[in-house]
Amino acid sequence: MNKIGEGITPQSQEKRDLLVLLERAQSRSGYLSQELIAELAESLGLSISEVYGVASFYSFLSIKPQGRNVIRICKSIPCYLKDAQTIIEGVRKEIGIKPGETTPDGRFSFELTNCIGACDRAPAMMVNNDVHVDLTPKKISQILKVYK
Ligand code: FES
Repeated sequence: MNKIGEGITPQSQEKRDLLVLLERAQSRSGYLSQELIAELAESLGLSISEVYGVASFYSFLSIKPQGRNVIRICKSIPCYLKDAQTIIEGVRKEIGIKPGETTPDGRFSFELTNCIGACDRAPAMMVNNDVHVDLTPKKISQILKVYK
């Protein structure tokens, strides 16, 4: 008997797809609420802490409400070495909040993230799904104007 696939049940398949399901749930609801995490855990036969652990681990998932636009500045070493801290400060001055916060008008949430795959053009950041590279403090204001 072929052993490949043995032990893979629909439930274990869903466990492996937890990240995908969390991403879909977040895109529908804006963030992963406690209720949503509990529902997902029950439907997959997982504990709430298992689902919460994944939801809170990845920087692209959020367990709290987000602004209309999410700024994610890369904090990994290549960007750090290209002075990402100056970009972080530039964004902080431009929108008036620190990483982990959302502007009172809900326009922006500000996060730090690990590598976004643009290391050769560091420092880099994402705003929603848009990647911005070769950042300088001067570029920050121009970039953020586009996002209402
Ligand atoms: S280290 Fe910043 S984009 Fe890769």
